[in-house]
Amino acid sequence: MTDGPMSEGASAPAPRVVLGVSGGIAAYKACELLRRLTESGHDVTVVPTAAALEFVGAASWSALSGKPVHTGVWDDVHEVPHVRIGKSADLVVVAPATADLLARAAHGLADDLLTNTLLTARCPVVFAPAMHTEMWEHPATQANVATLRERGAVVLDPAEGRLTGADTGKGRLPDPEEIFEVCLDLLARGAGAPDLAGRHVVVSAGGTREPLDPVRFLGNRSSGLQGYALARTAVSRGARVTLVAANVSLPDPAGVTVVHVETTAELGDQVTGAAKDADAVVMAAAPADFRPVASSDSKIKKSADGSAPSLELTQNPDILAGLSHDRLRDGQVVVGFAAETGDATGSVLDLGRAKLARKGCDLLVVNDVSGGAVFGSPDNQAVILDADGGATDVPFGTKAALAHAIWDQVAARLGG
Ligand code: CTP
Repeated sequence: MTDGPMSEGASAPAPRVVLGVSGGIAAYKACELLRRLTESGHDVTVVPTAAALEFVGAASWSALSGKPVHTGVWDDVHEVPHVRIGKSADLVVVAPATADLLARAAHGLADDLLTNTLLTARCPVVFAPAMHTEMWEHPATQANVATLRERGAVVLDPAEGRLTGADTGKGRLPDPEEIFEVCLDLLARGAGAPDLAGRHVVVSAGGTREPLDPVRFLGNRSSGLQGYALARTAVSRGARVTLVAANVSLPDPAGVTVVHVETTAELGDQVTGAAKDADAVVMAAAPADFRPVASSDSKIKKSADGSAPSLELTQNPDILAGLSHDRLRDGQVVVGFAAETGDATGSVLDLGRAKLARKGCDLLVVNDVSGGAVFGSPDNQAVILDADGGATDVPFGTKAALAHAIWDQVAARLGG
């Protein structure tokens, strides 16, 4: 990290972030991203394009960042800002990134302060594009995005939803809070190469629900936090990510294609479909092992004599074992999770080893859940077992830290 002003009360210099803003209506959402970055102790320099100032004026950027704001290279020339700002940055985030900005960045143009900054930055760079669907899908934009990704930038896929005017589709700026999470992850990891660039990974998260009737279900306590951390961290390592989420109420991570499901059968269909062209599949979800043989179309009523209905269950297919056995794509890395408590037949790790062999996956992330400690917690601790007999201890830390430890091993297996 470069020398920078000290954040209040902290001994380390505040990380220097450049917030580039280009001229799209979503520029107003970048104010929220800026607020989050400054409030969390980052030293932010806003570099808008001239077009961005048509949407949000320099006074807003200046007031929110506490710094002067320039768009061109001719202000304060004695300080050589067109080189200094980029060279001293720990992270550059461009949000929103318009089709025009992506084109200029991909072609190495240097016709304003932001594009100069992009050419001089040697830190991680993340673009959060926002534009109409047609502009995003145009081969010119897609070629520019591919070029930027090849060069190591993280380009978030836009979110789906309502666009300016009456249309809806892919093109919305991801939630500023989620772009902020990507920024934090990139700053924490530093200038590590995006070793999952060009890879497609599928992650499952949450807990499935098996309906008994229209209002009741069999379910479990999985919060989805670990799966969401895996999806986010894969994005910041450059991957294209499909997240199959079972009954998770967390916001969609930026740049991730999220498919929402309810039952184990739906989870199995979606994961298996997405896995056909995936380099890695991580089954962080807790699929219900059993489902009722029949689900009632109407609410099951209490009986007058006080007797309870009996429940006949049948076993769900094991998605992880199926993926490990079928190997839908050559070289695909398949990762499972095991929440174990240890019992009379063996320790947590013994049971983990047996499960790895039984399921046939490449890696198994074993959690000790005695006491239910992991569910809903932001932290986790695990041992990653591999099919070759290796074991990696991941000490107690954030679920993002465990996610990175898992991706380290996946990337090593993929040869990237
Ligand atoms: N899993 C799956 N399909 C199921 C059940 C589990 O793909 N029907 C996956 C989970 O996503 C997880 C791994 O298998 O990655 C281990 O889950 P776990 O519940 O520990 O495995 P089980 O086979 O159900 O073993 P146990 O009998 O110990 O519950």
